[in-house]
Amino acid sequence: MVTIKSKREIELMKEAGRVTALTHKAIEEAIKPGMTTADLDRIAEETMKKYGAISAEKGYNPGIKGVPPYPAATCISINDEVIHGIPSKKRIIKDGDIVSVDLVALKDGYNGDAARTLMVGNVSKEAKRLVEVTKQAFFEGIKYSKKGNRIGDISHAIGEYVKSQGYSVVREFEGHGIGKDMHEEPEIPNYGKAGRGIRLEPGMTLAIEPMVIAGNPNILELDDGWTIITEDGSLSAHYENTILITENEPEILTII
Ligand code: MF3
Ligand code: CO
Repeated sequence: MVTIKSKREIELMKEAGRVTALTHKAIEEAIKPGMTTADLDRIAEETMKKYGAISAEKGYNPGIKGVPPYPAATCISINDEVIHGIPSKKRIIKDGDIVSVDLVALKDGYNGDAARTLMVGNVSKEAKRLVEVTKQAFFEGIKYSKKGNRIGDISHAIGEYVKSQGYSVVREFEGHGIGKDMHEEPEIPNYGKAGRGIRLEPGMTLAIEPMVIAGNPNILELDDGWTIITEDGSLSAHYENTILITENEPEILTII
């Protein structure tokens, strides 16, 4: 079921989104070569706590046989890691890395979900272009995130833009509705046909999240049951915000 949020629920979604944005800000300000991904995870957890939230990712159980509950507060995926990288004290961030941080703050029963790919120090020109295209793909999608349009219009805009830039979208993972649950209906693929899927209505809250690969679209899963990497070893980037559909232009809840 696709939930339409009441006025009060929208206020709570805005607050969860604000904490999500503040947590990203704390990580962006702290990240530097030599830190570990566990260091960033701790900063995220402390920031959420400071603002009265907890991580919805920690302990998250997707209910898939053989997949353990997610063990950390954030997902941090470096270079050829696409999504769901598990923070570790052994994983040291280096100059030139692109670091995708995906986090979900849960406050007063509502979730804010956002991802950023951070460029550490001197990154290659190609890595920079990938990060910028991934961010722009989100903004191409949000152009269609309006009352009366359909989910497929968003998917199509994202997929065509990424293709036009010579990159691939990940097909196995997608954006989603969000609210009391981190993942609600509808699913929002990053490719597809315009004019398909449900119509957008004011009060819907959606997480739109292009995951883009510089090379071929195939992915692999590591033995930890979570980390997704590119099959060809090429770089990957992720950009996500939680948005609100309104009577007019959409509102981005996870940018402050
Ligand atoms: N935040 C992710 C998303 O964008 C989900 C992470 S899976 C988890 O949908 F296990 F880490 F929670
Ligand atoms: Co998401």
